[in-house]
Amino acid sequence: MTGSSVAGKRILLIVAGGIAAYKTLELIRLLRAQGCAVTCVLTPSGAQFVTPLSLQALSEDKVYSDLFSLTDESEMGHIQLSRSADLLVVAPASADILARMAAGLASDLASTVLLATDKPVLVAPAMNVRMWLHPATQANMALLAQRGVSVVGPDEGAMACNEYGRGRMAEPPAILAAIQEQLGQARPLAGRHAVVTSGPTYEPIDPVRYIANRSSGRQGHAIAGGLAALGARVTLVSGPVSIPAPPGVDLVPIETAEQMLRACMQSLPADVAVFAAAVADWRVAHAARGKLKKTDAGTPQLELVQNPDILASVAALKQNRPALVIGFAAETGDVLQNAADKLARKGCDWIVANDVSPETGIMGGEENAVHLVTRDGAETWPRMDKRAVARRLASRIAVVLGTPATETSPLRGPG
Ligand code: CTP
Repeated sequence: MTGSSVAGKRILLIVAGGIAAYKTLELIRLLRAQGCAVTCVLTPSGAQFVTPLSLQALSEDKVYSDLFSLTDESEMGHIQLSRSADLLVVAPASADILARMAAGLASDLASTVLLATDKPVLVAPAMNVRMWLHPATQANMALLAQRGVSVVGPDEGAMACNEYGRGRMAEPPAILAAIQEQLGQARPLAGRHAVVTSGPTYEPIDPVRYIANRSSGRQGHAIAGGLAALGARVTLVSGPVSIPAPPGVDLVPIETAEQMLRACMQSLPADVAVFAAAVADWRVAHAARGKLKKTDAGTPQLELVQNPDILASVAALKQNRPALVIGFAAETGDVLQNAADKLARKGCDWIVANDVSPETGIMGGEENAVHLVTRDGAETWPRMDKRAVARRLASRIAVVLGTPATETSPLRGPG
């Protein structure tokens, strides 16, 4: 990859405590030489190893270090600081700052900026080998990786503390290469529009009661976020959930299946539509205008009618059908066979199938174990965090939609 991938980009470089901080000065020099703007945040422990003046001289920019600096806040608030860069890089990333990132602390400017950002984050860990190998650090790293934080290094070698092992900060050229890879990642879905449905639907019985289901919206929301991270414009049509919409997506909140159908149709045209919502199959034929009261006449009889199938309706469109229509299949048995049947019945291109039997803990949980079923067959993905499923699905979508026609796709595309 050439240096052009960082030219004109902006890095927020967080310098935490560690002897390796001296190597960060060289990293800044390399980045500046490639035409990349660098703004530094120096932690109090980082300041034990390098001075604000050296960072300022090399970055040719102001160095931020104080969360409660009125001057800094009036120039650029910490939230704005966290969003002003294309990429946040933590180098060196000490065991302490990694732990604070994993715990979501906001105890100083660096950790606050890392918590407030909606930009990708790359860390270059540097610490004693035992600190690196400690289960606490390893658990923190696993958690950060799950959340999408990228890592470069640490390398193996002789350490400042006279020990030998893994824990040396990656060399500046290796960190530069990792930065180039992050920034150079073409946003393969830039210019594409994705519609994603998520969450449950609420079907009213009367003004205070409704029929709903246990969907948390986690998987659908994560997919919306995953597609946005690859550059897509995302319309997220969601039923009532308790989680926020991922940054950068357009949320269309709805309650009923009929509203969801209308919102989806109004959102078209789109290049891809992913139907992750747990749509109620039935609604009450005549929702009462006033609250149903207990009467001597006995229990009310609710007449149910079938809701429109949003996935099937969009897949069947003659005009405006998205190039890739993806459904979900929540099953409690014969997962692959039911998913293949559903794919044919609903006329979609892919089905993401999962087993939602109560013992799997998937419905409402953090993890998912899915099979990607296409017209050509199925592949089984390992059980992983719902965000990881989302990232993998988003990159598979990008393979079909985002690459030049000359490149072959491992999955059959639409049509
Ligand atoms: N779906 C939809 N509109 C509906 C029902 C389902 O868009 N009214 C979508 C879901 O978002 C999901 C897929 O269809 O992508 C499969 O939904 P599921 O409830 O698992 O399947 P059903 O069609 O309800 O079939 P069954 O209940 O027989 O398994």
